Amino acid sequence: MKIYINEKILTKINQYLDLNSYTKLAVLTDEVIGSFWLNKLKEGLKKDFLLIILKPGEKEKNLKTLTFIWQKLLENNFDRKSLLLNFGGGVITDLGGFTASTYMRGIDYINFPTTILGAVDASIGGKTGINFLGVKNLIGTFYEPKMIFIDTFVFSSLPKREFIAGFAEIIKHAIIADQKYFDFLLKVADVFDQKNLKKVIDWSIKIKTKIVQKDKKEKGLRKILNFGHTLGHAIESLSLKTKKPLLHGEAVALGMIGESFIAQKIGLLKKEDFFLIEEIIKKYQLFQKINLSKVDFKRLMINDKKNINQKILFSLPEKIGKAVFNVEVSEKIINLAIDYINL
Ligand SMILES: NC(=O)c1ccc[n+]([C@@H]2O[C@H](COP(=O)([O-])OP(=O)(O)OC[C@H]3O[C@@H](n4cnc5c(N)ncnc54)[C@H](O)[C@@H]3O)[C@@H](O)[C@H]2O)c1
Ligand SMILES: [Zn+2]
Repeated sequence: MKIYINEKILTKINQYLDLNSYTKLAVLTDEVIGSFWLNKLKEGLKKDFLLIILKPGEKEKNLKTLTFIWQKLLENNFDRKSLLLNFGGGVITDLGGFTASTYMRGIDYINFPTTILGAVDASIGGKTGINFLGVKNLIGTFYEPKMIFIDTFVFSSLPKREFIAGFAEIIKHAIIADQKYFDFLLKVADVFDQKNLKKVIDWSIKIKTKIVQKDKKEKGLRKILNFGHTLGHAIESLSLKTKKPLLHGEAVALGMIGESFIAQKIGLLKKEDFFLIEEIIKKYQLFQKINLSKVDFKRLMINDKKNINQKILFSLPEKIGKAVFNVEVSEKIINLAIDYINL
């Protein structure tokens, strides 16, 4: 698999891709992304393609939309040698990846992430899927794209909140795997500037790719990527029922604070490191207090896919730059962590 990161790659994409080796090309995107960038993508592809354009949002990651895409491909005579280009955030790359992995037992696909979260996380690592009966990512496959294209210029149209939320996963990568990266992120004056952005995305992708390479199917090590997500997913789900739903990254940022609090309480992480983690999350404007129902927290965490035999297992940092997985934590400590991040 090849990953290309370049400013303005969008309008030059045909130079990186041999479209003649495919019988047909489909582009999957959503209306919002299309309105900003579709013309530039057309300019870059210089070839006809079937456009499949969805409504934006997580709601589209469902079986009905999947069926719709399969049908579009079939009606347009897409065969095994055709190519799907996913141009969008994590919703598009998850759904498109799953489509590609199942259509005619698998066709080639390319991810072109248009969100920060997509670039450093969702488009990398080969996890694809849809939500089913209210459970996130319940149905899915492991199926890697042939190529990944990242154009940092495309992020310029992201709403500021989406842009910043993507940094939660970037901070996560630093905490679990690379102290130098953490120091850079903590000290850099303007990480949002184009030059630094490219460097950071590149750095994060290297970290995620390295972890995934060692454990493609998440039997062990890959679980460290779930740091911040046990509490984070519960926060995300609970917040969706309130007047102020949080974005995934915003919830994960708070999840990382709560889980670092746990790591510190059980004597795994030094207090200084815990304070540094809080500091970096504040620096990236991802620190906030929440007020969610405590009873529901536990119920949600018990249903987490990462658990085994209903035990709540955490991936926790043992210092900045290193994490461990499958740590069982007592209910008492979990409650203290919830109190810490909740009002
Ligand atoms: N497969 C994985 O390993 C993995 C990892 C993390 C997250 N995910 C999945 O990713 C999804 C979330 O992804 P996301 O945060 O990218 O959300 P998203 O795909 O819903 O995109 C967020 C919003 O931003 C808009 N948008 C996207 N790019 C834009 C751009 N350049 N300019 C303006 N607007 C733009 C979209 O229309 C959408 O409204 C979730 O479904 C999650 O489960 C998957
Ligand atoms: Zn995440």
